[in-house]
Amino acid sequence: MEENGSEGKAVKYYRLSEVEERNSFKSTWIIINHKVYDVTKFLEEHPGGEEVLREQAGGDATENFEDVGHSTDAREMAKSMLIGELHPDDRHKIAKPPESLVTTCHESTSWWSNWLIPALAAVIVTMMYRMYTAEEE
Ligand code: HEM
Repeated sequence: MEENGSEGKAVKYYRLSEVEERNSFKSTWIIINHKVYDVTKFLEEHPGGEEVLREQAGGDATENFEDVGHSTDAREMAKSMLIGELHPDDRHKIAKPPESLVTTCHESTSWWSNWLIPALAAVIVTMMYRMYTAEEE
């Protein structure tokens, strides 16, 4: 939902590469829900600490921001730091791919190890067993 950016003003779009450059003490930008925030002056005031913001500097902090469950107050505060939005063409670049439960299996490289290793282990165990029983006789 686009709640901001509809205040009659034209929205300023930033490319992802521009945001990525703002990852230093001098200038710290973060992206939350495709919106770009300049948190440079807020770093020291952030109740959650400046470190967490620095880690996200120049990149997408949506997941971390939402995980914390920030209050409505925090969201209001964020609005004052809003400087624009991520360019629509760059949005797909930060969208995390949905987690997949399917693990790719390269069968061609592992088919032999699937039976060869257990088979070898079985042979070794059999030989050791034979050696032990032979010694006892
Ligand atoms: C413009 C962006 C942000 C603003 C305005 C903001 C503001 C706040 C505020 C006001 C609080 C106090 C608790 C509350 O009211 O919810 C808070 C706590 C916190 N924030 Fe943020 N925050 C921002 C971004 C982030 C991001 C990107 C992260 C994670 C990477 C983060 C992590 C935390 C943590 C860990 C706490 C502490 C929660 C606790 O002690 O229970 N914040 N933030």
